[in-house]
Amino acid sequence: MNANPIGVFDSGIGGTSIWKEINMLLPHENTIYLADSANAPYGPKGKEAIINLSIKNTEYLINKGCKLIVVACNTATTNAISLLRKNYQIPFIGIEPAIKPAALNSKTKAVGILATKGTLSSELFNTTTSLYAHGLTVVEQVGEGLVELIEMGKIDSEETKTLLKMYLKPMLDANIDYLVLGCTHYPYLMPLLLELLPKHVKIIDSGEAVARQTKAVLEKNDLLNSSISNPKNQFFTNGNPEILKAILENGFEVNYLDF
Ligand code: DGL
Repeated sequence: MNANPIGVFDSGIGGTSIWKEINMLLPHENTIYLADSANAPYGPKGKEAIINLSIKNTEYLINKGCKLIVVACNTATTNAISLLRKNYQIPFIGIEPAIKPAALNSKTKAVGILATKGTLSSELFNTTTSLYAHGLTVVEQVGEGLVELIEMGKIDSEETKTLLKMYLKPMLDANIDYLVLGCTHYPYLMPLLLELLPKHVKIIDSGEAVARQTKAVLEKNDLLNSSISNPKNQFFTNGNPEILKAILENGFEVNYLDF
């Protein structure tokens, strides 16, 4: 079991921002990345559709022998992870907007959250927010259209910049000093965000924390890969393999999957 792969899925290419952190922290692990790009974006879909897609992705990865699954998608985590944990035996690691550190550290008592509609409307997100952001101004913004642009590879286009500028405006008007990235596609917007945000606004993304949690859970379950010989990293997409390949930046082979 220890040599079995870690499965990672997302609605598309965004979860590679998490995969990169996992691969950096756990370079000896075998991995399988699944990009359900043909069904992206998940954000505007209802809870039931998000659950069904998450089940489909999970079963694909379990059939491939995955020992643990990382749900590298805030939208799938906040809507489906409790059900996945109930229905399947293997451990699941999820990602959700890191509202807690932002709320605890904010000096201006105003934080911004950029996420999908599916995440912002989820029960899990709203419970966490009311728990930790009590008494703070929380400016929630749906990043409508951003996932689609990133999926098309238009990461630093004028179109993306214009949308982002519009979404950040109400946050800056509210004097935020923390911006929480609540979607795994958004770390790829970092160069634009740094250009558009004043220096004192800190950006929080939870990729590294997810990798640390993955390691901790593997350790706890005695599932770390003991072999240090060439790990196998496999990438599958039902979208455009070239776009996934480009975002991975390191020449990995990407397989098209009719899925
Ligand atoms: N990467 C997904 C997330 O973290 C994007 C969701 C979508 O496809 O809308 O939420």
